[in-house]
Amino acid sequence: MSELALFGGPKAVTTTPEERWVQVNSDVKAAVNELLDQGVISIGGPTGVIGEFEAAFAQMTGSGYALAMNNGTATLHSAYFAVGVKPGDEVLLPAYTWHASATPIIHCAATPVFCDILPETLTIDPDDIERRITERTRALCVVHVFGNVCDMDRICDICTRHGISLIEDASHAHGAMWKGKPVGSFGAVGCFSMQGAKAVSGGEAGVAVTDDPDLLDRMVLLGHFGRPRMGGVDVVNQIGDMSLGAKYRAHPWAIAMAHVGLKRLPELNERRTANYEFLNDQLRDCPGIEVIDALPGASRAAYLEYKFKLSRQAIQAVGRGRIVEAMAAEGAPVTADRYSDTNYTYGLLHAAPLFTAVDRTTLGGCFYDPTRPGSAPRPALPVAEDVNQRLISLPGFIDVERDSLQQVAGAMRKVMEHLDELN
Ligand SMILES: Cc1ncc(COP(=O)(O)O)c(C=O)c1O
Repeated sequence: MSELALFGGPKAVTTTPEERWVQVNSDVKAAVNELLDQGVISIGGPTGVIGEFEAAFAQMTGSGYALAMNNGTATLHSAYFAVGVKPGDEVLLPAYTWHASATPIIHCAATPVFCDILPETLTIDPDDIERRITERTRALCVVHVFGNVCDMDRICDICTRHGISLIEDASHAHGAMWKGKPVGSFGAVGCFSMQGAKAVSGGEAGVAVTDDPDLLDRMVLLGHFGRPRMGGVDVVNQIGDMSLGAKYRAHPWAIAMAHVGLKRLPELNERRTANYEFLNDQLRDCPGIEVIDALPGASRAAYLEYKFKLSRQAIQAVGRGRIVEAMAAEGAPVTADRYSDTNYTYGLLHAAPLFTAVDRTTLGGCFYDPTRPGSAPRPALPVAEDVNQRLISLPGFIDVERDSLQQVAGAMRKVMEHLDELN
């Protein structure tokens, strides 16, 4: 009989790798209850819990200003709007990211231009950025995907040389650093989702950071009716108290929760990193598994999920689905990576109908660039397409017994060592 649990053998994981960390703990309940007791249900300016959180988040990222919002997508729309993305413009970004890095670009009636990624880190490939820059390129959005930090020396150099605005989508990377400088603080605007699964979470919320008071003004203009502004931008002053109506204001209860999370971020990031490094060390020499290292100079954080690559040989011999099935049968909480057609019909973003086949001029509203045809051919992004088929995920463990992690790694290794039995 096979040793694999899939075929009736003993399971490699005998204890449930149970996550003991809970987001909604007693501190969160106390913070939200305090607002409820005070009858605080909406805050329009940088006061109370909103002001306190913004000051703390700006400090954590080493930024001049932070602006809390109702979600991370709103921060990205605000960032693109703030740097002046408009019809006729192109915005570069990686194909391997959540769709919310891209969709706000079409809210500005501009065109997302998808770039390939580095196979080692899964982050945007600086050489491919350079290849795709045109006279129309207005901005670059880099994504510190699953907590792995982009090479910010190269990214900043590219943006400076080409006069492109830099936006960082740091939704997976709260507290991560490049050479000791926090992510989010390198470019024009740093954007952070604080949705339920994120390292700093308000359930649904987001926060943008910037050093530039004019960019802050423009973000306030788009989505924060009635909020006092700095007053440096003429058009903002002319419009006065009236915003452009996007209403991206955050809920104070969500921000109260996020503020509790922010206070524990360094401690929880240390735990995440220790668990990730432990798993990486356990699996580094495992046949058929490639670990995903950080670039020298990068300090990973937040993670969201832990990623591993299966080798091309393993994929060709057995296929990712079967390997995931066998690992899950062993009791390891392994899944196929979710930025692929395994979990969403659109696959990677550069292949998604919204950015390729669909004629966006037929959508109504202003979700297309009137200076261009409504649809575009799918670009060739060989690395993203290859790597995407090979990635597997584990949850971003925070507070889990070492024994359980060891068993999870053991289960993955066991399957890879018995790969021939899966055919
Ligand atoms: C990389 C990335 N960017 C942006 C977002 C959008 O954030 P939100 O869901 O808070 O709007 C997410 C959400 O998961 C994300 O993963």
